[in-house]
Amino acid sequence: MDFSDQRVSYEKSMLDESNLPTDAFVLLHQWIQTAIDKQVNEPYAMSLATCGDDGMPSVRIVLMREITENGLVFYTNYLSAKAQDMLENPHAEVLFFWHELERQIRIRGTIKKLPEAQSDAYFHKRPHDSQLAAWVSQPQSGVVESRDVMEQKFAELKAEYPDDAVVPRPEFWGGYELLADEIEFWQGRANRMHDRIVYQRQSAQDSGWHVERRLP
Ligand SMILES: Cc1cc2nc3c(=O)[nH]c(=O)nc-3n(C[C@H](O)[C@H](O)[C@H](O)COP(=O)(O)O)c2cc1C
Repeated sequence: MDFSDQRVSYEKSMLDESNLPTDAFVLLHQWIQTAIDKQVNEPYAMSLATCGDDGMPSVRIVLMREITENGLVFYTNYLSAKAQDMLENPHAEVLFFWHELERQIRIRGTIKKLPEAQSDAYFHKRPHDSQLAAWVSQPQSGVVESRDVMEQKFAELKAEYPDDAVVPRPEFWGGYELLADEIEFWQGRANRMHDRIVYQRQSAQDSGWHVERRLP
């Protein structure tokens, strides 16, 4: 298959540093709100890139569940391949790509586990059967003999925890916060002359952001 003639010209918007907010999170909120308002597909889905001791990067989609003062929150299995990577190397990058808006955002920083109470609160907000699925997928990323094995375990859990029963949060399941050190906003432009504006967090004493334009 040859895709070399496939081209889309990006012309929907632009980024001009002379009228951008000084706080990266203000722009992040604005872009996410626009994605929601414009009904892009899965605006909360982000690619999460991690790299453990083996030096081999891995990337997969997770759902952003909250924007905090300093970062983004997502939930997963603490024994998964990604969790092992983040244990070995607590740095990660997430990426949103919204084709409808011709926009990409990259956020990199340091990973921190959420307090248990916060994971408890979110776990119990999930649909009952999704809670059971968290118990089934243990250890996430491990090999399972067949789909039947999963269905069987799910059925056993359904019997143990009928719809009105409280499902305990597995201790191997919970949230992480990615504390942002750098946020890049990318806006597609015509002729591949795209706009890339990067915000870098200044030192801990100075809560501001350094803003620079990078070549596309
Ligand atoms: C749209 C979408 C949303 C997903 N959301 C999550 C999520 O929030 N948490 C999660 O652990 N996995 C989520 N997954 C599954 C992951 O992409 C991945 O398959 C899984 O977490 C195992 O990754 P790992 O083996 O690299 O740890 C999602 C997948 C898709 C396509």
